[in-house]
Amino acid sequence: MNDSDHIDQRHLCEKSLTYGEGPMVSSNGVVRSAPDTRLPGVAVVGLGYWGPNWVRNFQQLQCAHRVIACDLDARRRNHVKQLHPSVETTASFDDVLRDSEVEGVVIATPVSTHYRLARMALESGKSVLVEKPLATSRQEAAELVRLAQVRKRTLMVGHTFLYSAPVLKTREIIQSGELGEIFYISSVRANLGLFQHDVNVAWDLATHDISIILWLLDRLPHSVTCQGQSHYRSDVEDVALLTLHFSGKVIAFIHVSWLDPNKIRRTTIVGSRKMLVYDDTASQEKLRIYDRGVSMQRYYDTFGEFQFSYRYGDILIPRLDESEPLQQECAHFVDCIRTGSQPRTDGVNGLQVVSVLEAANLSMRDSGRMMPIKYGTV
Ligand SMILES: NC(=O)c1ccc[n+]([C@@H]2O[C@H](COP(=O)([O-])OP(=O)(O)OC[C@H]3O[C@@H](n4cnc5c(N)ncnc54)[C@H](O)[C@@H]3O)[C@@H](O)[C@H]2O)c1
Repeated sequence: MNDSDHIDQRHLCEKSLTYGEGPMVSSNGVVRSAPDTRLPGVAVVGLGYWGPNWVRNFQQLQCAHRVIACDLDARRRNHVKQLHPSVETTASFDDVLRDSEVEGVVIATPVSTHYRLARMALESGKSVLVEKPLATSRQEAAELVRLAQVRKRTLMVGHTFLYSAPVLKTREIIQSGELGEIFYISSVRANLGLFQHDVNVAWDLATHDISIILWLLDRLPHSVTCQGQSHYRSDVEDVALLTLHFSGKVIAFIHVSWLDPNKIRRTTIVGSRKMLVYDDTASQEKLRIYDRGVSMQRYYDTFGEFQFSYRYGDILIPRLDESEPLQQECAHFVDCIRTGSQPRTDGVNGLQVVSVLEAANLSMRDSGRMMPIKYGTV
């Protein structure tokens, strides 16, 4: 993975203006740059709950020469057309693949279709961003990574939180040593719905937490245990608890649920010096660093002295320069297509997360047995 520098999306927009053919004034007097044919054409495939956000960001950033929105469902195409009249729409994925001006394709369809569509796009010479998770198995994910390498195309995965200011700041804080040695991370991602039809709650929600935790710790877990239960549809677990085991006694717990009365998005990181809580549902002050900890008396003379002493210090709230993570991600994808640079959330990163999910699924189907994680080779 690359460094955690925030992506300078303003720089990208400036570039798009510089390369343009001069300003255009529309009928309402708004000055716009002319369409820049040197910017890539992009397509967003899948316009359900999430895909329209991609269309909006490509439009707002003006970082694509053409934006094509594709969905099998006419109602979804019409919905996007109403919101963004200048966007072209189509029902045909084949048309997208045949369009030589389309350089980048975003796949925002159900998870079970990711591999097939991404593979077709790469084989057609497109760069591809696949929404999370990259695929439904390690083998499929590895195949996509290999194909992108052979075709020399960008393969990026939609691990959106790796473009969010609180996660980037948290990584910076961990790497500065402020929290000390990391003991454990505990993450809860729960709400009522949205049920996915083709994957369980771990593949849907825990993907986010796994990608965040791997990024924060900058290392991979060696094994995982997972327990879950399905209450509404057989074999589609709607609640799950994963435990990721890392070397050096570091452990991470992830609780995900589609059946919780409250929306919870909270990650707690406990270190030997300080502790950090990241609450993504907070409108402001998403991060809090607690100067709290425990120390043990090294030497003691009486039983009364054999105790821990607890430190209740200050709470610090770091300042964050927040912008929409998807906007950062969108700008990064276009930048990677144009420059050939490696995405922060590249195919290998997607493969690592899928490897953890696959092992977690095996564990869940085997009553929570500890599973070693096999990271696919390309
Ligand atoms: N990064 C994030 O924070 C985030 C958030 C939500 C969803 N997602 C991901 O986005 C993807 C889509 O999720 P969703 O909730 O929007 O799903 P959805 O079911 O609401 O929408 C999927 C859309 O894809 C269309 N579709 C299916 N097959 C197609 C094909 N072959 N060609 C064209 N269109 C096709 C469907 O008609 C539907 O409109 C999933 O991978 C999900 O994990 C990511």
